[in-house]
Amino acid sequence: MSEQISRLDAGTSEKTVFSVEDLTVTVGTRRGPARAVAGVSWQVRAGETFALVGESGSGKSMTLLAATGLAPRAATVTGRVRLLDSELTALPDDRRRKLRGRHVGFVFQDPMTSLNPVLPVGRQVTEAAEEHLGLTRRAARDRAVELLELVGIPSAAQRVDAFPHQFSGGMRQRVVIAMALACEPDLLIADEPTTALDVTTQAQIVELVADLQQRLGTAVVWVTHDLGVVAGIADTVAVMYGGRIVEQGPVDAVFDTPTHPYTRALLAARPDPARRGEDLVAIPGAPPSPLDLPPGCAFWPRCPVRADPRCEHELPPLTPVGPGHTVRTFYPGETS
Ligand SMILES: Nc1ncnc2c1ncn2[C@@H]1O[C@H](COP(=O)(O)OP(=O)(O)OP(=O)(O)O)[C@@H](O)[C@H]1O
Ligand SMILES: [Mg+2]
Repeated sequence: MSEQISRLDAGTSEKTVFSVEDLTVTVGTRRGPARAVAGVSWQVRAGETFALVGESGSGKSMTLLAATGLAPRAATVTGRVRLLDSELTALPDDRRRKLRGRHVGFVFQDPMTSLNPVLPVGRQVTEAAEEHLGLTRRAARDRAVELLELVGIPSAAQRVDAFPHQFSGGMRQRVVIAMALACEPDLLIADEPTTALDVTTQAQIVELVADLQQRLGTAVVWVTHDLGVVAGIADTVAVMYGGRIVEQGPVDAVFDTPTHPYTRALLAARPDPARRGEDLVAIPGAPPSPLDLPPGCAFWPRCPVRADPRCEHELPPLTPVGPGHTVRTFYPGETS
């Protein structure tokens, strides 16, 4: 491995790489403003993994797109986002784009959305790096081979000139990860990167990213529906519901003592390998529409607890319940 891609030095794990403070995203739609994300705050340090979980439509992707300056045009974004020493939200688009290109790698659910079908994979892996790192074409090709080897593509020196359709789904996702790592990003954003893959390949990709992160000290933000993955890789987890974080904390604390009724329902709905064949415990009801959010706790209509008359009309505050563990509910003390 080159010097460039084995650069985890002591002390990097203290550094906050990315922080999001009070992020709110309102999307203008034909049916009125949709509040997709509201008052979301979190941060991730070098070498750490931050997982964002929640049902479909809870605002996970929009949080990440808005935080990195990629929200749709119709979206109004407020709040503060810092990437390393720069406040992204204060920068003009071109500066933000440059910083994003240099410091952030993205891996999305479907590898084909990130790959150009008519360009050899090797060229794609280093296309951005050529510009950002000032590599010559020759050096870029060598580096592409090295990166493809790093992500476990067999016979990388031969396959560097192959096209995406000549790779399996899992191998394509490895190519996308190689692409995301080519600029040696400080932050890797993976939005459901394994959803389209079979279980064995999913596990390989999860392991690959964890291994690369250990070696490179990358901060990782991982969006997933899979709580098993979260338990395996995340340091911190945030649970989103109706555009807000309802519970956040060290992964062990949240999994061992889930406190928000939604987190508890989500964990109860998790497929348990020991209970294979039994029905899943689905959460009754549907998530709220961002066009019509209830004034109080967004989970109230589906909540099995409803212990406090304020729940329906008043937004519960974020309450600390343990070291680094916060919950947005009126009755964090009454959890069992
Ligand atoms: N381009 C858009 N225009 C209008 N509304 C949007 C747009 N993109 C997302 N939304 C809305 O914002 C809300 C949050 O969507 P988001 O894609 O962040 O959900 P998610 O948590 O990533 O869900 P999933 O698990 O399905 O990926 C949803 O209600 C969605 O309908
Ligand atoms: Mg999403």
